[in-house]
Amino acid sequence: MMINIAIIGLGARGGEVYGDYIKQHPELARVVAIADPNPEKRVKYQTLFDLDDSCVFDSGASLLQAKPEVQAVIIASPDQSHHVDALKAIESGYDLLLEKPIATTLEACLEIRDAAVRNHRRVVLCHVLRYAPLYRKIKDILDEKIIGDIVLMHQIEHIGYWHFAHSFVRGNWRNSQTSAPIVLAKTSHDLDIILWYMGVDVDSVSSFGGLYHFHPKHAPSNAPSHCIKGCPIKNTCPYDAEKIYMNNFKAYPLEHNKVWPFTVLDVNPTESSLNKALLGPYGRCVYLCDNDVMDHQLVNIAFKNGSHAHLTLSAFSGSTHRQIKIMGTKGEINADDLTQVITVKTYDGRFDVTPVIYDIRKMSESLKGHGGGDERMMYDFLTGLSSSEKTSISSSIEHTVTSHVLAFKAEESRCHQGTRITMNEEDTR
Ligand SMILES: NC(=O)c1ccc[n+]([C@@H]2O[C@H](COP(=O)([O-])OP(=O)(O)OC[C@H]3O[C@@H](n4cnc5c(N)ncnc54)[C@H](O)[C@@H]3O)[C@@H](O)[C@H]2O)c1
Repeated sequence: MMINIAIIGLGARGGEVYGDYIKQHPELARVVAIADPNPEKRVKYQTLFDLDDSCVFDSGASLLQAKPEVQAVIIASPDQSHHVDALKAIESGYDLLLEKPIATTLEACLEIRDAAVRNHRRVVLCHVLRYAPLYRKIKDILDEKIIGDIVLMHQIEHIGYWHFAHSFVRGNWRNSQTSAPIVLAKTSHDLDIILWYMGVDVDSVSSFGGLYHFHPKHAPSNAPSHCIKGCPIKNTCPYDAEKIYMNNFKAYPLEHNKVWPFTVLDVNPTESSLNKALLGPYGRCVYLCDNDVMDHQLVNIAFKNGSHAHLTLSAFSGSTHRQIKIMGTKGEINADDLTQVITVKTYDGRFDVTPVIYDIRKMSESLKGHGGGDERMMYDFLTGLSSSEKTSISSSIEHTVTSHVLAFKAEESRCHQGTRITMNEEDTR
C-alpha cells in the first residue's frame, strides 16, 4: 500500500530531513500535501514533490482544515504550534510523526498523549537517538545484563559553542517564553535515553543551572548590535557571526553547504545572501540578544529502586556530541557519539579489566543525522504505518512522554534553587 504523507513545517527537520528522506524512498511513501508560512519554502518543496497548488498551504491549521487524503502527518513546525495542530490531526484520524518537544507545557503534552490513546492513533515522537545504532547497541548490552544492574548513569550533552549561539542565543530556542526551557527543548532526548536505559520508575529529581555567559554583562564596551557593525573584539570573539557562518560556508563544498545551519539564514544560501542575513537575527552580538535559556544545567534523578542518574548540558564545548557512562554491579560502559565507540569493561577479578570495544562506524552503514537515528526512525515510522504491529515503533508517545514530565519537573526544581521534586504515578497517567 502506498503511504501518503502531509508535512507541516518545511524547515531543517520537516523539509531537509523528513521531506528529503521520503523523496529518496518513493517505495515507502510520497508527500501529497505541505504547509509552511514561508513562500520560498513552499515553492521549493512544491517543486520537489511536484504538487498542485491545491495541496500547498500556508499553515498547519489550513492544511488540516482541508482534510487531505493522507495516512499520516509529520509535524515539524515550531514548538509552540505543536499543541493545536497535533490535537487537530489526531482527532481527524491521522497518525503522527511529531517533532519533539511534544508541546511546551506539561498539560498540553499529556493532552496530546491522552488524545492519541483515546483515538487509537500512532504518535511517534522524534526521539531519534533511540533509533541510532550506538544507542541501540548500548541498550542491547544493558538488556543482556552484561554489566549487571545499573547503579549510576551519567550523560553529558555537549551542545557545542557555535550550535548553542546559533539555536539558543540568536535562534528560535533562545527564549523560554517563545519556545521552551532548554532542559525540555534540547535535552528531552537525553532524559528519554536515561529513562529507556534505566528502565525503572523515577522517584524524584533536582536541578541547578544558569545563564553564565550570554548576557550584556559580558559584552565589550561599545559593542554594536551586530558583529559586522564594527565590533571591537571581532577578531578574537569565537561567537563572531561572520566566522561561524561565512567562513564555514566557504569551507564546505557546494553540495554540503545548502543545508542547516546555513538554510536557517536563507532558504537558498549563497555568499551574498548570507552576508545580507548577518544584519538580521543571526548576525546579532551574542551578548545583546533577548535570550534567557540556561547555558549550562545539571539534573539529578533518583529512581525508585535506589539507583541514580545525572545529566549535564553545556553550551561550552568544541564539538557537538554526547558522552555516556553507565556503572553497573558487574561492569561499566563508556560511550561517545562523536567517536561512535562503546567501551565495555566487565569486572573479572583482575586489577585492570581489559575492555571490549565496539566501533559502531565499522558495524553500521550510514550514520548521518543523529548518528543514523534520523533515517532509521523514518524507515521505522513509514513501514510501521502499513503494519498492524504497533510494537514496531519504539518512540511512541506512550513511551516517551515521561521524559517530558521529567523535564518540566527538573525545570520546576531549577526555578526553586534545586529543590527535590517528587514524581508521582499520576504525573504520567
Ligand atoms: N528531533 C530532533 O533532534 C530535533 C532537532 C531540531 C529541531 N527539532 C524540532 O523540530 C521542529 C522544527 O525545527 P526546525 O529546526 O526544522 O525549525 P525550522 O525553523 O528550520 O523549521 C520550522 C518551519 O516551520 C514553519 N512554520 C512556522 N509556523 C508554522 C505553521 N503554523 N504551520 C506550518 N509551518 C510553520 C517555519 O516557517 C519553518 O519553515 C521544532 O519543534 C524543533 O524543536 C527536533
